[in-house]
Amino acid sequence: MHIHPSILSADFVNLESELGSILSADAYHVDVMDNHFVPNLTFGLQMVQSLQGVTKRDLDVHLMITDVDVHGPKYAEIGVASVTFHIEASLNPVQLARDIRAKGSKVAAAVKPNTPVSALAELLPELDMVLVMTVEPGFGGQKLIESTIAKVSQARELSRSRALEIAIQVDGGVTEENIATLAKAGADTFVAGSSVFKAVDRNRQIDLLRTLAQEAARG
Ligand code: DX5
Ligand code: ZN
Repeated sequence: MHIHPSILSADFVNLESELGSILSADAYHVDVMDNHFVPNLTFGLQMVQSLQGVTKRDLDVHLMITDVDVHGPKYAEIGVASVTFHIEASLNPVQLARDIRAKGSKVAAAVKPNTPVSALAELLPELDMVLVMTVEPGFGGQKLIESTIAKVSQARELSRSRALEIAIQVDGGVTEENIATLAKAGADTFVAGSSVFKAVDRNRQIDLLRTLAQEAARG
């Protein structure tokens, strides 16, 4: 069970110290948004490279951008741990997944709430992780869309039926109230933005989320 706090909810002016406040994290989730694929803008390659300079932790880069077939591999080239692209944004997802892997990063494909998990069926053997978006991508602090939980189970079942070892990540509205349900549905990697950054003790919140997920998975 891995907890990846999303730095979208951090103070962008003080990112280095913000990273230092979430050291219990298993990796840092970095949301790259381009104002085209989603109606919000964050930062790009140069900022991600700067973040790498101030932490040794793995960066889990979530690309919410168009032209991802061109730009996605550049993030792998700078050595981030994993690159997630949206299936809706890629013209050639199989090639893109291979390009990212060839440059040494793990690769994941994401589906928005209205994109069925079956859209990933052909791509699955090329992936290390599937990201099931549990909110519409673009903003932190939204409420989890309940109907996406069934998609987590479908993704887990699809990977199990093919005997593939694929991580299932959820992103959006993950809290201490719903993380057990998500873990039971088959998620093993949890992005949490506001629920971590709002907490008085962020590391304690990360540890709590992880414990709840572990206990739920054990049944
Ligand atoms: C939303 C981003 C998420 C966001 C999650 O498009 O992909 O990573 O930061 O934030 P919370 O956990 O607040 O929903
Ligand atoms: Zn994200």
